[in-house]
Amino acid sequence: MRIGKHLKQRYSERDFDDRIVSMDLVEQLALSFIQAPTSCNLQIHNLTLVNDPNLLTLFAKNVTGKVNWAKQLFILTVDSNLTFENNANYISAGMAVENLMLESNRLGLATCPLAGFKGHQFIKDSLGIPNELDIPLIILFGYPKVEGKSSSTYRKPLDYVLGVNQYCIEKPFPKTSYMNDWTEEQIRDYRTRILSVYFPRTRQGVWNSGLNILWDLTKEKIGDRNIYFFPSEKNEFDMLNTLSNKLVISDEIPVYTDYLKNQFADVSVLGEINDKKSDTAFVLNKLMFCKNPDGVIKNINKNVQLNGLVYVSEFNKYGSVALCYSVLRALGFQKHVYHNSSFYKFGPFNFINHSILKASFEKNGFEIIDIRKLDTKALYYKLPRKLRFIDSIWRKLHKESTLYTLKKTRNI
Ligand SMILES: Cc1cc2nc3c(=O)[nH]c(=O)nc-3n(C[C@H](O)[C@H](O)[C@H](O)COP(=O)(O)O)c2cc1C
Repeated sequence: MRIGKHLKQRYSERDFDDRIVSMDLVEQLALSFIQAPTSCNLQIHNLTLVNDPNLLTLFAKNVTGKVNWAKQLFILTVDSNLTFENNANYISAGMAVENLMLESNRLGLATCPLAGFKGHQFIKDSLGIPNELDIPLIILFGYPKVEGKSSSTYRKPLDYVLGVNQYCIEKPFPKTSYMNDWTEEQIRDYRTRILSVYFPRTRQGVWNSGLNILWDLTKEKIGDRNIYFFPSEKNEFDMLNTLSNKLVISDEIPVYTDYLKNQFADVSVLGEINDKKSDTAFVLNKLMFCKNPDGVIKNINKNVQLNGLVYVSEFNKYGSVALCYSVLRALGFQKHVYHNSSFYKFGPFNFINHSILKASFEKNGFEIIDIRKLDTKALYYKLPRKLRFIDSIWRKLHKESTLYTLKKTRNI
């Protein structure tokens, strides 16, 4: 086995075909798992194969929908009450899983480790797993629908990993969702890493419903040449796909723009200036994820022709989304940049004061020609059904979003 080849080829597969892996191969995988080093050689981890279609259907419902990606999976169990010094028990289990994943690759199979799931007790009850064991991971495996793929997710550079006689140059990420705690470089780095996991699925997915009003309105505003900033949602892509040669896409994360280049003809990294200026620009409910919204607005000026129209929308400070997330953060929820954060695929966020936005528009050569309060329902669809009435009442008092129409009056 040329290990280097399989190290490079292994990747997380999320689309398996219907074939069931033979018991012979399953046993080979389990043997590679056993072969790994373990703390004190206690070998306190196990695999449970699940390939019964009825069980898989129940798991898809009660554990995670990701189970539908494959026809079989392993449940990893670890006895967390032994060799727990320095997490040696979980480290040992991780080494065993990596063995299994490399061996799968060698055998023409693919894998996807999953830590994003719930229903631990359900799994234990369904499979007769002793209650004292922990279930840290599910490993989907099988034959990939498309053969010959290899890893395409971003990896950080060597000097961010390796330090020689002193710790490497990498600084740990901030942990809060507050924009002020992050530098631009840290945000770019976080997004670069996390985004590459989600191609070609949509980047965010929190607003597939609720901003419809905004996207419907936007369709009416399309110009002859449009520049669209930070597309992320399915609905946005549906609209953008109809524009082909009338469109430039702009985003600040090179791995993301590289991905977009496979779908759209004209894509630029934020900060670049396109040779041909657009007559219309859009940045819809995304400035809240920018460390420097003023810089984005300045960049719009450079990419839009004189008298060109620009549509900028953001959540209102007292609208349902901004108010709800501000209160949640004050109470300690949604405070972490990743754990239990609705916006973990973007990282930190900040609801922008509209007076700051307006000042930035004027400073950067734009005249505000229309301000329209919009009854978007982004929070409504995120709330449990029973609580949606609160949002319906609140939206009568304070509209959730504002859409600005700007005209470029001067170059800067
Ligand atoms: C401990 C662990 C947990 C993971 N959990 C999930 C998960 O819940 N869902 C998912 O789609 N991928 C999951 N992954 C896969 C990672 O997203 C993937 O390894 C990473 O993006 C690098 O891509 P690659 O494996 O294709 O090289 C997990 C990976 C590890 C190691």
